[in-house]
Amino acid sequence: MKVLVTGGAGYIGSHTCVELINAGYDVVIVDNLDNSSKKAVGRIGEITGKEAVFYEADIRDGAEMERIFAKEKPGCVIHFAGLKAVGESVKKPLEYYENNVYGTLVLLDAMRKNDCKNIIFSSSATVYGDPAFVPITEECPKGKVTNPYGRTKSMIEDILTDLHVSDPEWNVILLRYFNPIGAHKSGLIGEDPKGIPNNLLPYVSKVAIGALEKVGVFGNDYNTPDGTGVRDYIHVVDLAIGHVKAIDKIKESPGVKIYNLGTGNGYSVLEVIAAFSKACGHEVPYEFKPRRDGDIATCYADPSLAKKELGWEAHYGLDEMCRDLWKWQSMNPDGYAG
Ligand code: NAD
Ligand code: UFG
Repeated sequence: MKVLVTGGAGYIGSHTCVELINAGYDVVIVDNLDNSSKKAVGRIGEITGKEAVFYEADIRDGAEMERIFAKEKPGCVIHFAGLKAVGESVKKPLEYYENNVYGTLVLLDAMRKNDCKNIIFSSSATVYGDPAFVPITEECPKGKVTNPYGRTKSMIEDILTDLHVSDPEWNVILLRYFNPIGAHKSGLIGEDPKGIPNNLLPYVSKVAIGALEKVGVFGNDYNTPDGTGVRDYIHVVDLAIGHVKAIDKIKESPGVKIYNLGTGNGYSVLEVIAAFSKACGHEVPYEFKPRRDGDIATCYADPSLAKKELGWEAHYGLDEMCRDLWKWQSMNPDGYAG
């Protein structure tokens, strides 16, 4: 089967393309390179020994999308393309709604016109807001999302669900990711944030390599064992494999399905810094700072539904996530620009 991957040059997309090719799928990438590099596409070929077809195109360009779908005739779409910086989305809500929501509408229209009605969507644990309970199951109600980025995810989930109601030929799998970190074990692909990183692990690894001075730990007075925020960090390769399993599922025409992709384990910010210090062989300096607006204390998954229905579970632990991130960071101190 041919799989069209929007945002396939990005962090999670590139790792997913590797696992798709390894599993025997033909992969077509559509990415406007807004937050990624064409080098990542070359590296996917280097790792797998097979090139992905690549279109530098914007999902908001309807004519181009229709042309690509008509030519490639994919059986399924994995939809990663989108803007994802929480803080930026508060400052630029229109850009976020336009890129993420409108972009998805254009993509869906091109799919419909070409009779491709299978889509796997990159959603996020952010849709649970401050979760009603932990560990979070898919039954946990969607919560009050505190930022436009998160609202785009929640809206797109609703749009895709409405689409299936209108036409049951559509199959939709909503994957709610917890906190993806790490990199491919080759050190050839990884996360390459532009500017100062917003997320914990990219920040920690930049401090470890000496590009930033110390990690600011946002809050040490949460109701958690050591007072710092607790998250469910998941190795990006485990997450990527979850998408391959989701394709197996979508072939069964399951209608609309929702799966949490997490490990089920929560780690605090201080535990993460300690694990990374071990991986890189020296202490990573940090200081406590005030809480960050919109952050919650604790968020981790109950991933048992994905295990039961997809036959998927995460295999890598925190030490392996830090080891592989450190390999990527040390081999590519300037990311893909180096
Ligand atoms: P990323 O920025 O590395 O990848 C997104 C890719 O989409 C980039 O390559 C970018 O150039 C491309 N893109 C953006 N807008 C586009 C457009 N209009 N047309 C074509 N391409 C476009 O981000 P990522 O971390 O790999 O995230 C992938 C998806 O997973 C996103 O939808 C993100 O919201 C979601 N997600 C990420 C996380 C996380 O922590 N990384 C957590 C939950 C959900
Ligand atoms: N943190 C710090 N210092 C930093 C960055 C983060 O202490 O410099 C802390 C945060 O306060 C939080 C934890 O580290 O306790 C993780 O923060 P991240 O920014 O790495 O991740 P979040 O859980 O806040 O958010 C991530 C993605 C969102 C997604 C959400 C749920 O960035 O897009 O997971 O999936 F919505």
